[in-house]
Amino acid sequence: MLEIIKLDNELLRQKSEPVKEVNDEIRTLINEMFETMDAAEGVGLAAPQVGKLLRLFVLEADDNIKRVFINPQIIATSTETCEYEEGCLSIPKAYEKIIRPAKVTVQALNENGKSFTLDADGLLARIIQHEYDHLDGFLYIDRGDEETKQRIIETFKRREARKAEKERLKAKKAAKLAAKFSNKG
Ligand code: NI
Repeated sequence: MLEIIKLDNELLRQKSEPVKEVNDEIRTLINEMFETMDAAEGVGLAAPQVGKLLRLFVLEADDNIKRVFINPQIIATSTETCEYEEGCLSIPKAYEKIIRPAKVTVQALNENGKSFTLDADGLLARIIQHEYDHLDGFLYIDRGDEETKQRIIETFKRREARKAEKERLKAKKAAKLAAKFSNKG
């Protein structure tokens, strides 16, 4: 299982590089990304989210088809827009309604290096746009309103601080317990 990096990791803000060759190494990464996405109960995962700055993402929308997009390009977007509540595995427990084009046409390579073009709407179009953003260092919170973005960032920081404090207390307790046992020994 791969580790999903979180909002405070600067790698999420960098632009990813094209995949040079679709080989076994890439296919292994793709399999691990699907496993990681499923375990986290996500619908999409981009390579930068597992610390790999590569233009590649995987997803599974409501049609239950596992799809791979390598070096994707969004070649057309509809003028019609729609609103969806988005979340991100890198921003736990946060959601925000975001407006984006309702339909997109995307061109990419699949896991065998074969080029394909896909017209997508609904949830599929939404996930494609969300994951595509990750490849350019964008997050959905950049697309919403500034106030909500700041609130989500602050909540994330508070939760991380609480987690760190909990870990510190746990370590302290463990050290105390270990000292107690060694005194007896
Ligand atoms: Ni995301």
